[in-house]
Amino acid sequence: MKKIFSGVQPTGIITLGNYIGAFRQFTALQHDYDCVFCIVDQHAITIAQDPKELSDHIRSLAALYIAVGIDPEKSTLFIQSEVPAHTQAGWIMQCISYIGELERMTQFKDKSTGKDAVSAALLTYPPLMAADILLYQTDIVPVGDDQTQHVELTRDLAERFNKRYGEVLTVPQIQLPKNGARIKSLQDPLKKMSKSDSNLKATIRLLDSPKEIEKKIKSSVTDSEGIVAFDPENKPGVSNLLTIESALTDVSIPTLVQKYEGKGYGDFKASVAEVIIAHLTPIQQRYEQLLNSTELDEILDLGADKAQALANETLVKMEAAMGLGRRRLK
Ligand code: TYM
Repeated sequence: MKKIFSGVQPTGIITLGNYIGAFRQFTALQHDYDCVFCIVDQHAITIAQDPKELSDHIRSLAALYIAVGIDPEKSTLFIQSEVPAHTQAGWIMQCISYIGELERMTQFKDKSTGKDAVSAALLTYPPLMAADILLYQTDIVPVGDDQTQHVELTRDLAERFNKRYGEVLTVPQIQLPKNGARIKSLQDPLKKMSKSDSNLKATIRLLDSPKEIEKKIKSSVTDSEGIVAFDPENKPGVSNLLTIESALTDVSIPTLVQKYEGKGYGDFKASVAEVIIAHLTPIQQRYEQLLNSTELDEILDLGADKAQALANETLVKMEAAMGLGRRRLK
C-alpha cells in the first residue's frame, strides 16, 4: 500500500480551513493508504507558546483527529516530540539545506518580516517538516495549498540526499484537495483563513457553537452586488462561502449557484451556516467524549510506538548511508 504522511500544528483550535484543506483528505485517504498523522508540537514552538496552552492544544488536536473520523485501527496518530527520530532526522535535513533556499520560503518571510527577534528554528522549520515526511518513506502528502512550497523543498532535499548518499529516501508527491485548497478569511477574503488570526470573526473554529458560526457567517465580508455567483477574483467573499458549502456537501459549485438563483445574501449565508453547523455538531459531540478519556492516551501511546519503529528504520538507513555512528540495520 502507498504511504501517506501529514501533520497539523497544535497552535490553537483548528479552523474550517484546516478541516477542509487537510482533515477531510485524511479521513478519505485512510481507507486506501497506509496513513501516519502527526501532531507537530515541535513545529509549534518555533514561536513562543504558553506551556499550559500548548499542552491543552495538543490534547485537543488529538481528540479532534479522532472526532473527525481518523480511525486508529487504520491510521497511526502520534505526537512529534514523543518520537525522537524526527529531531534527529531534522538535524540531518538541516545539514543538507542551504540558508538561501530556507530564506526564500514565503511562510518564513511572512512570519519574520518586521520582527526584532526571530528564532533560528523559524528558519529551519522546513527541514524538520521534510524529516517528518521522509522518515516514513511517504508517497503522498495531503495538505492545503499554503504548504506547497514546503513539500517542494522536501522533494528537493530527498533528491539531494539520494544523489549524495545513495537511494535511501522516497521522493513524495503533494496532494491538494480538489475543492478548498485555500479557504479564505471571512473578514478579508484575499487572505487565507488562519488559526493565528487575531480577528476572531475571520475564522470558524471546529469547536465554535452554532450561534458563533451563524454570527460569523452573517457578518462575513461579501460585496454589494447581491448575486450569488462564483468569481474568486471579483467576488472573493461569496466565492469562498460557495467553496466551503461545496467542500462540505460534495455538491458542485455550479449546482449550488443554481440553487441560490434569485436568492439574496441573507438566505445564502443562513444556508451556508446551517450546512457548517450540521457538519460540525457530530464532530463536537464525539470530541467531548474523547477529550478526557483514557482511550485517547491509549491511541497516542500506541501511535508513538508504531511511529518510532517505522521512523527508526529510515533514520538508521540515513545514518548508515552518511557514515554516522555505528547503528546499522541487521
Ligand atoms: P498547519 O498546522 O498550519 O495547517 C494544517 C493543515 O491545514 C492546511 N490549511 C488549510 N487548508 C485550506 N485552507 C486554509 N485556510 C488552510 N489553513 C491551513 C495546511 O495546508 C495543512 O495541510 N507546516 C505544517 C505542519 C507540518 C506538516 C508536516 C504538514 C509539519 N510537518 C509534514 C505535512 C507534512 C503547518 O504548519 O500546517
